[in-house]
Amino acid sequence: MEIVQRLDAPEISRSASGVVPAKLSPEYREVVDESVALLHQTKALLRQIDTAAPLSALQVQRSTRTLWANWRSVWSDAAQCLREIAGDDAHFRAAKNYTESQLTAELLAAPLWRQAYTKPLGYPGDFQVMNYIYQGNALGDTPFAQAAHALGVQIGEFVVRRKDLMRQAIAEVVARRGGSEASVIASLGAGPAQEIVELVQRDECGSNPLTVILVDQDSSAMRCAGQKLATANAARRHVAPVHIELRHVSVLRLLREVDPAEFLTRPDMIYSAGLFDYFSDRTCRVLAGRLYDALRPGGVLLLGNMKAGTDMIWPLEMIADWSLNYRTADNILSWADAMRGGEIALRTDATGYDYLLSVRKP
Ligand SMILES: C[S@@+](CC[C@H](N)C(=O)[O-])C[C@H]1O[C@@H](n2cnc3c(N)ncnc32)[C@H](O)[C@@H]1O
Repeated sequence: MEIVQRLDAPEISRSASGVVPAKLSPEYREVVDESVALLHQTKALLRQIDTAAPLSALQVQRSTRTLWANWRSVWSDAAQCLREIAGDDAHFRAAKNYTESQLTAELLAAPLWRQAYTKPLGYPGDFQVMNYIYQGNALGDTPFAQAAHALGVQIGEFVVRRKDLMRQAIAEVVARRGGSEASVIASLGAGPAQEIVELVQRDECGSNPLTVILVDQDSSAMRCAGQKLATANAARRHVAPVHIELRHVSVLRLLREVDPAEFLTRPDMIYSAGLFDYFSDRTCRVLAGRLYDALRPGGVLLLGNMKAGTDMIWPLEMIADWSLNYRTADNILSWADAMRGGEIALRTDATGYDYLLSVRKP
């Protein structure tokens, strides 16, 4: 993953002076200007709200609903314009610069957009961004910041749906495990491990002892997951706690020098959501193959990747400068080419933005 450090440049210099890149299409410019106007309208409306008034939260909610309804329409137009310029690098770059200077600059008041765009931990999509989406509440210093934050949460709904699918798949694997042997589940690029937190909170951990191995390159993500899981475990006083192992290491080490079977102790399941999207095709294929080999017989590999051709590129790439590799079904299915005898399935999450490849080992 490319490490991007933007701590020194959290604000974007606006080009409201009218300097418009020569390559920018009038249609795309119009869509960006329209979305900025929507935000200005919302800001003007919310400026009249007295935050100390008991009904202010309700008013923010109402304005957020209106903003969302209008946003969906400009989003769809923006995605259409982007499809038309996708093959033209100079045009795409001009569109991205214009979006960041005009639209992103407006949204940076909201904690979610600010964290996603400024990347204070040096990489996009950190655990704090994920936590904001999972928590779902409208955070921010002003009513407008709260509405803009809530807009980001709405856009990120696919993250919540994907997490639910992961949690259900883990619950199925641990429920199926017979005998009294411990189940081992491993998450790569675990972030805040919200699906495991909820699995524990919902008591869906199966009847056998359960070990969960969480792997992440970010020590602050590991600390966050560890604390949440300690709290969730402590609340289940009547049953044995889920055993949590935190491994602060890059998953890329599993490509060569580290044997996933040893490192992950022959797990029943290995899953990864929101990580393969950052890797090249070759890395995905090689890594997926090595992870599959590391599973015990009957084990399940579950890998997520953002779907190609959707409109998600506008909010992520163009507004939040959050670059991912969006992939086709064929591309993702090709990761499983060498997985002999595996039972393969490809699903999408409920929002249709994310593919989930699952392969069960015979
Ligand atoms: C978008 S978040 C997804 C987190 C979690 N899976 C979820 O869905 O909520 C990506 C996570 O992958 C981690 N990550 C990125 N590159 C990594 C690598 N090479 N090795 C291990 N973790 C990595 C990041 O630190 C971050 O916590």
